Amino acid sequence: MIIALNNKCNLTKEEFLTYMTKLNEIQSKHTIILCPSFTNINLYSSNSIHLGAQNVSSYEEGAYTGEISAKQLKKLGVEYCIVGHSERRIYQKETNTDIKYKITHLLQENIRPILCIGESKEERESKMADKVILQELESALSDLKKEDLNKIIIAYEPIWAIGTGFIPNNDEIEEMFSIIKQKYPDNPVLYGGSVNQNNIEELKKISSIDGYLLGGLSLKINELQTFVNRL
Ligand code: PGA
Repeated sequence: MIIALNNKCNLTKEEFLTYMTKLNEIQSKHTIILCPSFTNINLYSSNSIHLGAQNVSSYEEGAYTGEISAKQLKKLGVEYCIVGHSERRIYQKETNTDIKYKITHLLQENIRPILCIGESKEERESKMADKVILQELESALSDLKKEDLNKIIIAYEPIWAIGTGFIPNNDEIEEMFSIIKQKYPDNPVLYGGSVNQNNIEELKKISSIDGYLLGGLSLKINELQTFVNRL
């Protein structure tokens, strides 16, 4: 399984150093990917945990104040990068076109994109969830060569489940996973959105889930070992 930890906009330098030490004590047979804030990427150090980023510029390089390029990430040892997280689509107004460029630059640097897709509550209620995620997938992935497509990790994260404590029921998740896997049978698909110690036993019954993207739980360093033991 793949367990991706999205620290989001959390952990100062000192906090991160303590966090990293504790994270390195975790024993697991799973692939754990840590996606810290940009300011903490250079402080990462591990032999067992992989390094990811939370975002990348949609430009290759140049006069783009505040942006971080795929090449800069690569030089820091980044192997994975989240793209299209709903928080960026909503707050930073990232479009499907931006996301497509980001994926292109990441693949040029041989960094594996973790592409986040997911519907809003309104889209689910109006039975548009499948259309929304297929459009997000299609616009990001349609032009990729097979060998590049195979490097993509997909993360299904219903927007209304992120950070809210609510998650879809297993039938709803299975339905979305089967839609995704019919089109992209060779890509790992993660579930993300309010995954915690209380719902993991239920989520584990879904055999098509290839891993989890954890936000809030990624920060609860003392709970992570128990969590991974249960997978
Ligand atoms: P959450 O976040 O686990 O806090 O809901 C998941 C995510 O945003 O990737």
